[in-house]
Amino acid sequence: MKVQFTETVLRDANQSLIATRMPYEKFEPILESMNRAGFYSVECWGGATFDVCLRYLAEDPWERLRKIRTKMPDARLQMLLRGQNILGYKHYSDDIVRRFVRASVRNGIDIIRIFDALNDVTNLKTAMEETVACGAEASGAIAYTTSPVHTLEAYVKLAREMAAMGASSICIKDMAGILTPKAAYDLVRAIKDAVDLPVILHTHCTTGLAYMTYLKAAEAGADVIDTAISPFSGGTSQPATETLHYALRELGFETGLDADVLHQMADFFKPIRGEFISDGTLNPISLTTDTQCLTYQIPGGMLSNLLSQLKTLGALDKFEDALLETPRVRADMGYPPLVTPTSQLIGSQAVQNVLSGERYKNVGAELRAYCRGEYGTTPAPIDPEVRKKILGREQPIQGRYADTLPKDTFETAEQALGNRARCEEDVLSYILFPQVAERFFVKREALESKITRYSIERVE
Ligand code: CO
Repeated sequence: MKVQFTETVLRDANQSLIATRMPYEKFEPILESMNRAGFYSVECWGGATFDVCLRYLAEDPWERLRKIRTKMPDARLQMLLRGQNILGYKHYSDDIVRRFVRASVRNGIDIIRIFDALNDVTNLKTAMEETVACGAEASGAIAYTTSPVHTLEAYVKLAREMAAMGASSICIKDMAGILTPKAAYDLVRAIKDAVDLPVILHTHCTTGLAYMTYLKAAEAGADVIDTAISPFSGGTSQPATETLHYALRELGFETGLDADVLHQMADFFKPIRGEFISDGTLNPISLTTDTQCLTYQIPGGMLSNLLSQLKTLGALDKFEDALLETPRVRADMGYPPLVTPTSQLIGSQAVQNVLSGERYKNVGAELRAYCRGEYGTTPAPIDPEVRKKILGREQPIQGRYADTLPKDTFETAEQALGNRARCEEDVLSYILFPQVAERFFVKREALESKITRYSIERVE
């Protein structure tokens, strides 16, 4: 019996607990040790890391990846990709998706975990194909949620479709921490029976279920679990790596992990957590257990977003109403899993509906686009009455939205940037986050000219 581990401290734990604010220099000294810990993979890139590097840390995300690769030549480096969304918040054309995947692999990625917020496989296809074509591993990720249409059969069908697209593993991605031990056991079993691929389980401690869920998943034959080294585990992050290593090994599972390296990693990250607590980046509330998500079936991040939206609008008294309205909007919209970007769409509409006193009186541009079909096919059909109220006489698009996008986005961006872009990676950063990337390029130039001046002085 064997269960392997994906370590998330550099990506999901970092993102869930401290909004991805850990700069490269902070974790660089531990990378050489981490390289030989024996992880199945190290999740270190993608998700929000890319945006945050450019926006807040004045770091080139591509350079971060290359540096990690150099320090960790043996570990399998993994990233999270939002299918046709890449790492941004809208859909991109196939050409951009392919270029981004190629660049990620070229700069050091071994495994790309690919998901779509609606579990629409037509949004995964291009990224999966290109990953396989580059010789990297494509891990097909199922966004886990509960609804009348999210049956065991529906998930198995999805896993089969991903396998047919060339996935080398299937990941069950429970971003809200609502996957129960029993549901995990049944789901892992069903997928293992249906496809001949490793099954990976990803969950969060938010509701307190995660350790039990992993244990039952391991019993059901899960091949890999996602965990975070203890100082960055718990709460909205993953369960602790060492704890699960300890418990599973005693139960007779081989983990392949080196306990000494785990110990070193924990010692290394403990004071770093302390720093983030002292400066307020790590809010102790993120470390607690919150079972509200189980009652309302709403991810923790969404609950805090609803609260802050209502607070800004001076309507905190409407919180209970907004909580009840959220699942109704989600049902109207065909039960999308609540994950970026659908969680934002559903949450803001629920707030709008409650505040305006009339449902769907005010509708944002994004939800309109969602109803037109720009995000893909919804798990269940959108309520026809609601769609008519939102779209009026406008008709939903036929076919795949990405096929309707301009084909020359890359060339246009390249021209717009001129000599500010030094390589294809720069152009891709710009396409995903235009203003943020441009600001970063200006900062980079200023910084480099200062360094050059400094080194000249020293030579003289
Ligand atoms: Co996650």
